Amino acid sequence: MEKGNVFYSIIRFFFVCFVGYFSTLAKAEVKKYQFDIQVKNVSRLCHSKPIVTVNGMFPGPTVYVREGDRLLINVTNHAQYNMSIHWHGLKQYRNGWADGPAYITQCPVQTGHSYTYDFNVTGQRGTLWWHAHIFWLRATVYGAIVIMPKQGVPYPFPQPDFEFNLLLGEWWNDDVEEIVKQGKKLGLPPKMSDAHTINGKPGPLFPCFEKHTYAIQVEQGKTYLLRIINAALNDELFFAIAGHNMTVVEVDAVYTKPFSTEAILIAPGQTTNVLIRANQLPSRYFMAARPFMDAPISIDNKTATAILQYKGIPNTVTPMLPQLPSLNDTSFALKYNNKIRSLNSPNFPANVPLKVDRHLFYTIGLGMNPCPTCLNGTQLAASLNNITFIMPKVGLLQAHYFNLKGVFTTDFPDRPPKPFNYTGAPLTANLRTTQGNHPRLSKIEFNSTVELILQDTNLLSVESHPFHLHGYNFFVVGTGVGNFDPKKDPAKFNLIDPPERNTVGVPTGGWTAIRFRADNPGVWFMHCHLELHTSWGLKTAFVVEDGPGDK
Ligand code: C2O
Repeated sequence: MEKGNVFYSIIRFFFVCFVGYFSTLAKAEVKKYQFDIQVKNVSRLCHSKPIVTVNGMFPGPTVYVREGDRLLINVTNHAQYNMSIHWHGLKQYRNGWADGPAYITQCPVQTGHSYTYDFNVTGQRGTLWWHAHIFWLRATVYGAIVIMPKQGVPYPFPQPDFEFNLLLGEWWNDDVEEIVKQGKKLGLPPKMSDAHTINGKPGPLFPCFEKHTYAIQVEQGKTYLLRIINAALNDELFFAIAGHNMTVVEVDAVYTKPFSTEAILIAPGQTTNVLIRANQLPSRYFMAARPFMDAPISIDNKTATAILQYKGIPNTVTPMLPQLPSLNDTSFALKYNNKIRSLNSPNFPANVPLKVDRHLFYTIGLGMNPCPTCLNGTQLAASLNNITFIMPKVGLLQAHYFNLKGVFTTDFPDRPPKPFNYTGAPLTANLRTTQGNHPRLSKIEFNSTVELILQDTNLLSVESHPFHLHGYNFFVVGTGVGNFDPKKDPAKFNLIDPPERNTVGVPTGGWTAIRFRADNPGVWFMHCHLELHTSWGLKTAFVVEDGPGDK
C-alpha cells in the first residue's frame, strides 16, 4: 500500500467512526401509525365505485421513518375482506412475523379485528412501499414508505430542494375482486385495467380527468428528488418527463452510481429515486407512464400522465408529451437495466457473496390444467420448476416455528425435473403443472450463500417476470437472453458493483442470476410481482433455518 493510501485510509477510518458515533447519539424513535381499512366511494374515468382504502385515502398514507427507528403500525380492519399488509422491501431482520403476506407469515386480519406490525428499520434508507398482500386488494391498498438517512448523515448525491412521491398504479372501473373471481371461474385472465394512474390519477388522456390529474409545481433552478414506485398490478412501466433528463440515484432503497437517462423502466414492486433539475424553459410538461411489453401477448398501451408545472405558468398552457420508448423496446430495457450499478462506496459497500454454498436453478413457466367447470375445460396456471404453489390454510411461519405437521414439505427441487431447451420454439402441448395438495418449500441453511438462476421458458409463451424476494435484498450478478449457460455465463458475472434490490425483472425469454446470504431466519415468500401470475401459482417460499442463537 502506498503512503498516500495509508494516510487516506486513516483519515477515512476516523471520519467513518466520527459520523458513526454522532449518528448513534441521535436517539432511535418509535413512530406510530394507525391504518384503518375502510371502504370508500371513489370515482375515476366517469365511474364511481366503492374501493378498499387505508384511512379513506387513495393511494394510502405515506409512512415516514428514519433509519434506525422502530415502527408500530396498528391495522384495524373495517372492510368485508380479510386483510394483511406487507412492507415491501423492509428486511424484517429476525422479525418475519411483521412481514405481512397472508398465510405465509400470518393469518390475515379479519373484519373487526386489529393487528400491530412492530418492526425496526435497520440498515436501510430510501424509498420502499407497503401494500395489501392478499388476493388482488393491493389494487387500491398501497402507499409509500420514505426512510430518511440517520440524523446528520447526508445523501451521497446533491441535496435536493424538494421531493415528491410518484406512485404508479392501475385502475379498474369495476370491482377488482369480482373481476378476478370471474376470471378464475372461466379459467382465463381477468380483464385488463381501464387506466394507469400516477398518485391514483389517470390524467388528461382519460375521460373525466378534470379533478383527476396530478400536478407538481417546480421553481426554476431548483433540484427535485422524485421517489417513483411501481404499484401497478400487472405492468412493467416506462416513465419519462418531457424536456427533462432524470438522474437515477437509488433503486429499491439502495444507492446506485448516478446516471442520466431520458426514461426509466420500473417493474411492479420496484422503486426508483431520480433527481431532476428544473432548468428548462418555464412551461408545463407532461410526466408519463406506459407499459413495456415485449412478449407476443396482450397489448396494453394506456398512458397515465401528470403535470410538471413551472411556477407562474398558467394552467392554460398545453403541456408536451415526453418521448417514451416504444411498447416493445427490448433493447432499451436491457440497456437501461445494465446501467444500474450499486454505489459500492466505503460507507455503502456492495457485499456480494463471492463463494456460493447452494446453487438453485428455477424455471418459470405458464401452463394449463384441466378444469371441468371452466370455459375451455382448462385453466391457466404458472409454475416454478413445474410446481404450481398451493396456498396453505395456516401461516407457514407459524407452522415452521410451532412444528405443525402436514402444513408444508421442504422438498422443493433445486432444479427442474427435466432439462430442456427452455427458450426454444413455443411448447403448447402437455402443459400440465404439478399441483399436489400442500406447499413445497426449499430449506436453506442459516448464513449460507445462495445463487439462484431464474430461467424464463417458452411454455405457452415467453414473458418477462419481476421476481420479488421477501426478507432480503439480493445482488443481480448476471442476466441474459436465451438459456443460461452454466459453463460460459458465470465468467461474465458482475461481482463488484451489481445492483442490489428486492425485485428484479427476468427478461422475456431470458434469465437472471441473483445471490444473497441467508442470514435472516424465517419463512420468506418469493414470487412474480405480476398479480396475475402470483394468483396462478408463480410463487414459492424459502425456509431459512435458525442460527446458533445468542451466546
Ligand atoms: Cu410487494 Cu410479496 O410483495
